[in-house]
Amino acid sequence: MSMREIHSDPTGFKPTFSQQALQEAADIFTRYPANQRNSALLPLLHLAQQDFGGWLSKQALDYVAEFLGVAPIRVYEVATFYTMYNLHPVGKYHVQVCTNISCWLCNSDGIGKALQTKLGITYGHTDKDKRFTLSEVECLGACINAPMMQINDDYYENLTPESAVGIIEKLA
Ligand code: FES
Repeated sequence: MSMREIHSDPTGFKPTFSQQALQEAADIFTRYPANQRNSALLPLLHLAQQDFGGWLSKQALDYVAEFLGVAPIRVYEVATFYTMYNLHPVGKYHVQVCTNISCWLCNSDGIGKALQTKLGITYGHTDKDKRFTLSEVECLGACINAPMMQINDDYYENLTPESAVGIIEKLA
């Protein structure tokens, strides 16, 4: 895995939650005692990622920190640790191939190679049409059906290189 770094948004976009996201944030806060609102950080980051175009810039992380009333470093620590938070812009389809032990033993290398050949990009990159981003990720908790990949919110399991490429062809 390459080191996960935080990037500023080059477009200068200043993130602010939409009305719908504000309502969802209020709903998230109801799940936690008033003195433990900090625990809402992970779902708030998911919400921010959805609301801010699929990734979390430094500005977005700072906004979440201010929204939650915590130091930005607390948010940076969490966002850089969990690979489900995208720290750079992603394409319409974010293809995340698990290469952790169970998937690796079941040929995740072959799946990764087939997808890189099919898409013409290596891990960590987005194709020129901004349709597909290919990422290598740690265990996604579906080891029993390894090898697997996640595309946006959906899991695809018991893959072969051929079936993985077939899924990409259907989406394309
Ligand atoms: S090792 Fe791939 S899902 Fe767990």
